[in-house]
Amino acid sequence: YKRITVKSLVEMKANGEKISMLTAYDYTMAKILDSAGLDVLLVGDSASNVMAGHETTLPITLDQMIYHASSVVRAIERALVVVDLPFGSYQSDPKEALRSAIRIMKESGGHSIKLEGGREIKESIKRILNAGIPVMGHLGLTPQSIYKFGTYTVRAKEEEEAEKLMDDALLLERIGCFAIVLEKVPAKLAKKVADALTIPVIGIGAGNGVDGQVLVTHDMIGMTHEFHPRFLRRYLDLYADMTGAFKNYIADVKSGDFPSDKEQY
Ligand code: KIV
Ligand code: NA
Repeated sequence: YKRITVKSLVEMKANGEKISMLTAYDYTMAKILDSAGLDVLLVGDSASNVMAGHETTLPITLDQMIYHASSVVRAIERALVVVDLPFGSYQSDPKEALRSAIRIMKESGGHSIKLEGGREIKESIKRILNAGIPVMGHLGLTPQSIYKFGTYTVRAKEEEEAEKLMDDALLLERIGCFAIVLEKVPAKLAKKVADALTIPVIGIGAGNGVDGQVLVTHDMIGMTHEFHPRFLRRYLDLYADMTGAFKNYIADVKSGDFPSDKEQY
């Protein structure tokens, strides 16, 4: 695939090729991720935690999401860019949801949007899709509703909630979403959902029976180090490596070792 589109993702599922997705919030990181060959870059509202240091994803604004997304879009040549609609930018009514989605598309150049929820936001999703904007769904653990649930534990462990999740997934496919993120649900249920759908299901903490995986980049490269969920595989320990580098710099500055003769004019 020269350039990944929403159509390529559906083809990848049909061909049994798994989809690789990670978060990106800035130009420099997006450039590395895109060159490495990631299929999808998610400008997640997790930027609220990772970039801004908020405890939840609720405070980040539409303007801030557009700033992050436009930085990412300027870096990419191949990946599909998905941008989260932040809390408060789509829940009031379908018109507001469409206005927010249009702002993201016009002002950031992103290729698609993602929003959290199923039947509750059906009319909003339909309206956005009718405007020609591709929509990725997000079910299971939906961090924008954290205050309703109170915890970030595994979702849909009980039969009733599992059935509702399956119905919501089928609904999202029926109305035209191009993919769905499933966050922190039992692997067995996630596989059942992926098997029932033609559109790809991309999991985070949803096991290996789905069509692709997503993680928060800063977690998987170990820049954050106080977050240890079972689903997280760390590919680097950048927290330790960077701390070492910064300490060496401090020591070199204090001792007068930096800059050397060769590092000055
Ligand atoms: O905002 C985010 O990073 C996300 C992923 C965890 C799916 O929505
Ligand atoms: Na998100």
